[in-house]
Amino acid sequence: MSRLVVVSNRVTLPAKGGVAPAGGLAVALQAALEERGGIWMGWSGKSSGSREPEPLSMQEHGNITYALTDLTKTDVEEYYEGFANRVLWPICHYRLDLAEYGRKEMAGYFRVNRFFAHRLAPMLKEDDVIWVHDYHLIPLAAELRQMGVKNKIGFFLHIPWPPADVLFAMPVHEEIMRGLSHYDLVGFQTDHDLTNFAGCLVREGIGEASGDGKFTSYDRTFKGGYYPIGIETAAFAEFAKKAASNIMVRKARQSVEGRDLIIGVDRLDYSKGITQRIDAFEQFIKSNPGYQNKVTYLQITPKSRSEVPEYEAMQRTVAEQAGRVNGALGTVDWVPIRYINRSIGRPVLAGLYRLAKIGLVTPLRDGMNLVAKEYVAAQDPQDPGVLVLSRFAGAARELRGALLVNPYDIEGTANAIARGLSMSLEERQERWGRMMEHLLERDVMRWCDDFLADLA
Ligand code: UDP
Ligand code: G6P
Repeated sequence: MSRLVVVSNRVTLPAKGGVAPAGGLAVALQAALEERGGIWMGWSGKSSGSREPEPLSMQEHGNITYALTDLTKTDVEEYYEGFANRVLWPICHYRLDLAEYGRKEMAGYFRVNRFFAHRLAPMLKEDDVIWVHDYHLIPLAAELRQMGVKNKIGFFLHIPWPPADVLFAMPVHEEIMRGLSHYDLVGFQTDHDLTNFAGCLVREGIGEASGDGKFTSYDRTFKGGYYPIGIETAAFAEFAKKAASNIMVRKARQSVEGRDLIIGVDRLDYSKGITQRIDAFEQFIKSNPGYQNKVTYLQITPKSRSEVPEYEAMQRTVAEQAGRVNGALGTVDWVPIRYINRSIGRPVLAGLYRLAKIGLVTPLRDGMNLVAKEYVAAQDPQDPGVLVLSRFAGAARELRGALLVNPYDIEGTANAIARGLSMSLEERQERWGRMMEHLLERDVMRWCDDFLADLA
């Protein structure tokens, strides 16, 4: 078997003291690589002032060799915060209104991709298979090809791919499309993303889709497909079962005091629909006053990308909103919303999911959303909770046993919460059983195997 070399911007070393990485990419890649073994190259998360890069920091943990590079402060500002997170992220999440395009940031993005290629190339062996992840590193294959690298290179996009009219609003969309044509295989999360990508190629005559999963553009032919990312379903279910005895989970159960628990877990990101969700919860209580003092909504929201202005602003907005709703609805012995603003380790998270009667996962747009899958996997088969899921999450293409909602429809989401809380055991088990069967079959190893088989 060839050696697997994974490259992503975010690399998370194995959790120390149970503090987990927040973010689906890190969680999924760790699971996939732990089993298969290989090299994982990416950013150390540190920025140095120096222009001269330190040597790659190499660390071995189990089956995985981590190769980490620092970036300069300017690199982080232009490539990561500037272009990746203020242009590509909002565009791919259909938020043209939030895209802040600048030439300096765009140049920084391509410069750091070249830098990654120069650091990676000397490590490569002839038959290594290279798998590049996510929107930070789209031009990496083109840079490697220019350096004469002939290995198979695959790319997987963890976030949505937008329709042509949205993508074309980005001034350098052609460069981005050209970058993708240098891969041997380009993978998306869902059929919708793949269709959007094909539409972008065909619309301006940039390329052609031959219908058998092959694309031709910029004189190159490559494969495209969709590979919905999964979780370690069986292991996560086991985690959740064991978590009942975890001290933090026990404390949470006691403090809920017989009320029904509703749980939301998201990085603090505008794509996650957190403000709409709090509105929906408030609406649910107003329309169903019988539930006053009978439910607790726990929202776990670790800070994310705090240097980016739109994210910084959100920290205030969401905290104020949760405070306002608690002030308006709360009583001397009831705090309706418990808002936690830091990351919780996954073993505890698994136990909290299992305690919750409703998993509220309502992003405005999401590539997949692993939280939705984790919530299902964590349920007690004898008494499973109900997943309320946005139709705009990639996971909605698969989890048909969820109550699907439009997160912009506040009353509709409020009604789904009420319906979930009063659903019969029989219906809950039937819906859960369908979803769990699917998740066991299409777990994270299956995702990894399917992609690598097509790349090979
Ligand atoms: N997560 C975590 N602790 C937290 C919040 C989230 O470990 O406090 C994990 C969560 O279990 C999931 C991932 O972060 O595996 C989030 O992935 P998802 O696909 O839902 O969203 P993303 O953050 O990648 O947009
Ligand atoms: C999403 C992206 C990942 C990213 C993660 C956390 O899952 O698809 O590429 O790593 O969010 O974001 P961060 O900016 O902290 O890496």
